[in-house]
Amino acid sequence: MKLLVTGGSGFIGSNFIRQILESRGDGVRVVNLDKLTYAANPANLADVDQRPNYQFIHGDITDPEAVRTAMEGCTDVVNFAAETHVDRSLLGDASFIETDVRGVFVLLEEARKRGVRRFIQISTDEVYGTIAEGSFTEESPLNPRNPYSASKAGGDRLAYSYWASYGVPVVITRASNNYGPYQYPEKLIPLFVTNAIDDQPLPLYGDGRNVRDWLYVRDHAAAIDFLLDAGEPGEVYNIAGGNEAENIEITRQVLRELKKPESLIRFVNDRPGHDRRYSLDASKLARLGFASRTAFQSGLSETVAWYRNREDWWRPVKEKDAAYREYYRTQYGDRLATSSATAKEPAGRR
Ligand code: NAD
Ligand code: DAU
Repeated sequence: MKLLVTGGSGFIGSNFIRQILESRGDGVRVVNLDKLTYAANPANLADVDQRPNYQFIHGDITDPEAVRTAMEGCTDVVNFAAETHVDRSLLGDASFIETDVRGVFVLLEEARKRGVRRFIQISTDEVYGTIAEGSFTEESPLNPRNPYSASKAGGDRLAYSYWASYGVPVVITRASNNYGPYQYPEKLIPLFVTNAIDDQPLPLYGDGRNVRDWLYVRDHAAAIDFLLDAGEPGEVYNIAGGNEAENIEITRQVLRELKKPESLIRFVNDRPGHDRRYSLDASKLARLGFASRTAFQSGLSETVAWYRNREDWWRPVKEKDAAYREYYRTQYGDRLATSSATAKEPAGRR
């Protein structure tokens, strides 16, 4: 297998590359095409980047020439590359449309011309929108409600159209919220862990009772590895963690793990259009023979330990990266100034 992984220098992509190099050994050659946006970190792959069966290419999935070069001789493609942070998409960033829709188109066009064995499009559970009760199956209608999830839904359906129209052997995955080592400290868990280590406030949106299903990143990586062989072309697979919890509960667990006080919690104005609850039915994947294994408590303990041991990884971002600091000010400055110790009204829901 010669595998093109896009976005392999980010959080999930780097965990996946480590996983597949371990599981398949000499049976795989990996090409990682990554633009190295703010969310990437070459250090994520420092332990594997000298391997003879690993190659890095610095490039953009919206650039047909870069994609052509990277896909040369590849049998399989896994597309992780994306703009991924909902809050940034709500700041009106056009790169979500560029990468998450047009970039997918450029990759699919090259795969169509070339012919590949599998093309895995990494989509997200956010494309289903919010659900009050029960769980989304792969047949549930799509109802993305923020610019990030709408862009991802575009990429998801575009990928499907290349199966339906041209027979490109596309497999689409929709995973729930990932957590684990190497996650950029803008997402809930790494932000709250690193803030708590520094006794900084934890800005919880709205009433803190939005529900996410937490999937340990190594389980996600193993699921993608599994689907490269077991996934049926044209099919969608939900990948769940089986660990649903309200944000306030996750926050309390983080604080307990670090032995920090709950007084660090600050309730701040809600995210616009904040999806109340995500919940996935992953029985289709289970029927193929895969289930996530990691219980949240043990995954969280490992994750917290990782951030404690790897201050060399996250402190340069939080303390020296001017763009990160500017983002933090924009996102949280006013919110923290008007925060309170008690829950705020959740954003209006339709
Ligand atoms: P991330 O933000 O940590 O990493 C994204 C990577 O993509 C970075 O290395 C970045 O440099 C690269 N990239 C961005 N634009 C690019 C471009 N135009 N060309 C080439 N590379 C580019 O993201 P992540 O959390 O690892 O998410 C990976 C994928 O998984 C995304 O497609 C995301 O939508 C999906 N997903 C994420 C989660 C989650 O909880 N994090 C859950 C479900 C699905
Ligand atoms: O569900 C899959 C999605 O999970 C992925 O597709 C996205 O790429 C990934 O970013 C993630 O999206 P979320 O918006 O769910 O993740 P985030 O970590 O930003 O937020 C998780 C929850 O925590 C959400 O309800 C918002 C809340 N939150 C988040 C931040 C950053 C806060 O209360 N305060 C915060 O500061």
